[in-house]
Amino acid sequence: MTVQPEIQTRSAALYERAKQVLPGGVSRNTVLRLPHPIYVSHAKGCRVVDVEGITRIDLADNMASLIHGHAHPVVTQAVIAQLQRGSAFSLGTEVEVTYAEHLSSRNKGFEKLRFVNSGTEAVMAALKAARAYTGRAKIAKVEGAYHGGYDYAEVSQTSTPANWGRDDNPASVPVAYGTPVKALEDVVVIPFNNPDRARAILDRHSSELACVLVDLMPHRVGLNRANPDFVEMLREWTHAHEALLVFDEVITFRSQYGGAQEWYDVEPDITALGKIIGGGFPVGALAGSSEIMEVMNPLASNVRFPHSGTFSANPVTMSAGLAAMRLFDRDAVHRVNELATRARFGIEEVISKVGAKACVTGDGSMLRLHMKSELPTNYRQAFSSLGENRRLGFMLDHLFDSGFIMINTGAFTVSTAITENEIDALIEAVEIGFRRLAAA
Ligand SMILES: Cc1ncc(COP(=O)(O)O)c(C=O)c1O
Repeated sequence: MTVQPEIQTRSAALYERAKQVLPGGVSRNTVLRLPHPIYVSHAKGCRVVDVEGITRIDLADNMASLIHGHAHPVVTQAVIAQLQRGSAFSLGTEVEVTYAEHLSSRNKGFEKLRFVNSGTEAVMAALKAARAYTGRAKIAKVEGAYHGGYDYAEVSQTSTPANWGRDDNPASVPVAYGTPVKALEDVVVIPFNNPDRARAILDRHSSELACVLVDLMPHRVGLNRANPDFVEMLREWTHAHEALLVFDEVITFRSQYGGAQEWYDVEPDITALGKIIGGGFPVGALAGSSEIMEVMNPLASNVRFPHSGTFSANPVTMSAGLAAMRLFDRDAVHRVNELATRARFGIEEVISKVGAKACVTGDGSMLRLHMKSELPTNYRQAFSSLGENRRLGFMLDHLFDSGFIMINTGAFTVSTAITENEIDALIEAVEIGFRRLAAA
């Protein structure tokens, strides 16, 4: 007879059931925790209560997608009102138009928009729109940058020292086994924030590229802002070679009222959006000039990129997104950014007080703690050694046990539900974590 280890908690028991029906017991890897994921009972504002009744402060916000925390009353009311009228139709709804008008008013480059259901889909559609517009197949992207699960967009997202190739010629490394070689060949990988090296690589493909895809503060690349000279080089290069410049603002849109692109004197051709613009519901969007977005116009005599999606612009997501983004006005953007600055200064002070081998990157309302003394400036520098991963794991477990939910890379986000109190409590918990780490 096999002896089952005693199942002590509701989460442990739920995970036993989950493993029977879901690979690894999860539907997305980010939920996985050892020895088992924690299951949620309910949440309100910045506080999440698990099925054991333990409350924690949420600084992960469903992977940076909940700008007002959980169950904001205005968003909840908007969704309930829409649900009572129906959740999805084979006809249009007014809220889709109103929401497109709202997003368009936030950024003058968003002349036309298309809604989709995820950030992955938004990036995929942006790349396909760029291909349709230019008639070219290849795309360029930054090494290590995460853009979702489209074959092309995910190339070199998980490169390692064993396979990433030379600094001046990063290899196109697949994420999933079986990725078509042709897909790898059609992705040109450039280093982040190194305009000279990136230009030299792009030059080798100058007549073949449909677009350059770039996240202005790529999380996995280290969560640093792109330098203006890097972004300006990409804009000049794409103009000069009749390729498009695509910004992935799926995460960074939260950084400024009209997106992180407000940090620069550069306009992209297409912007991919997602996360917070869904108000807590699955969403994505792509936005750009009328001329470029025309490739998706089904009324055009030559429709270059036919596009549809069963749940695209469903009125539940549209209602939630519109309510959430109306609340996320300029003052709200300013406030979450200020709170993140407070967190950054506080944690940096702790690092120097304790003498910890760590640093903080990030901007806007998202930060990342690295277990490195030197600020990493690109993917290769941000790549964690085994020892750094162990120390980060120790810190994240300590923070979780102290009541803080972080993103598992050491990143965290500030929602409008957070106040100075939660930030100061976090800083204190980080200090205790570093002291324990030093003693361990
Ligand atoms: C920058 C960026 N692009 C795209 C995506 C994919 O978005 P989704 O998970 O909604 O497909 C993500 C998700 O984390 C992201 O961070």
